[in-house]
Amino acid sequence: MTPRSVLITGCSSGIGHCIAVGLHARGYRVFASVRQAKDMAELAGLGLETLVLDLRDPSSITAAVSAVLERAGGRLYALVNNGAYGQPGAVEDLTRVALREQFETNVFGTQELTNLVLPVMRAANEGRIIQLSSVLGVVCLAYRGAYSASKFALEALSDTMRLELAGSNIHVSLIEPGPITSRFRANAFEAYRRHIDKQHSAHRDYYERVEMRLGGDKPLPFTLPPDAVLKRVIQALEERKPRIRYPVTVPTYLFAALRRLLTARALDRLLARASNSGQR
Ligand SMILES: NC(=O)c1ccc[n+]([C@@H]2O[C@H](COP(=O)([O-])OP(=O)(O)OC[C@H]3O[C@@H](n4cnc5c(N)ncnc54)[C@H](OP(=O)(O)O)[C@@H]3O)[C@@H](O)[C@H]2O)c1
Repeated sequence: MTPRSVLITGCSSGIGHCIAVGLHARGYRVFASVRQAKDMAELAGLGLETLVLDLRDPSSITAAVSAVLERAGGRLYALVNNGAYGQPGAVEDLTRVALREQFETNVFGTQELTNLVLPVMRAANEGRIIQLSSVLGVVCLAYRGAYSASKFALEALSDTMRLELAGSNIHVSLIEPGPITSRFRANAFEAYRRHIDKQHSAHRDYYERVEMRLGGDKPLPFTLPPDAVLKRVIQALEERKPRIRYPVTVPTYLFAALRRLLTARALDRLLARASNSGQR
């Protein structure tokens, strides 16, 4: 049988890299895309088919989809929307540019890519869209407003697509990890340095502390390796009726339950404390 094709974004490191390698080993035909061409060689060395796909750039997205479809005979079974980053900072310190950049990658580019592959899936009468959301797509923490807003947007678009795709045999699943070992923190630190003006901020004291946290390598409590996410991606790909949401890590299960059980005020008190304890 011809192996099923899967396109994954953001495979240079962390979760995307792990999913790409894991699905390849499981027999899928994996198209492991990276934002920067410099990261292709390592993946190609592992036997994966690679290409460049930068979610900020519509022409890069279009070219990548065309290349995948050409190589895969016009078919694509699944898209794993993994590529993203976190823009830290108090909401009042986020410039329009910082917020726009966050959404360009995590939301607009991701949806543009999805919309290009959906007609291919519709024509094949099957497909899986797997969205890397986050515990921060379930609840909000202080100083993660831009990232949380992008993941809440991803959740809303996914929930809506599911309604609109009813009966199409195309399934949309959300994966909601808490802390996972990856380059996420290092990349968030770069985004922080790019966009946050600490000197003129009312939150300067917090930023002093955050610099220690983002710059350090102490793992957050309940951190799991990326294989924990791979396991859920495999379920979302292979279960006959994939779940709508796959929580990963204790914090996601906990916060999802507390959001249902607590009053908004009580939840706020808890989230205020968690914001300072360093949960992602
Ligand atoms: N790690 C966690 O604790 C955690 C928790 C919850 C959810 N997540 C989600 O899991 C996914 C993977 O993150 P990760 O933890 O594996 O972090 P990571 O190691 O930083 O990997 C992020 C990947 O996204 C890519 N990316 C960034 N901007 C992009 C763009 N414009 N176009 C295409 N790709 C882009 C990065 O490419 P470059 O290397 O070129 O920058 C990298 O390959 C993300 O959606 C993240 O929000 C992570």
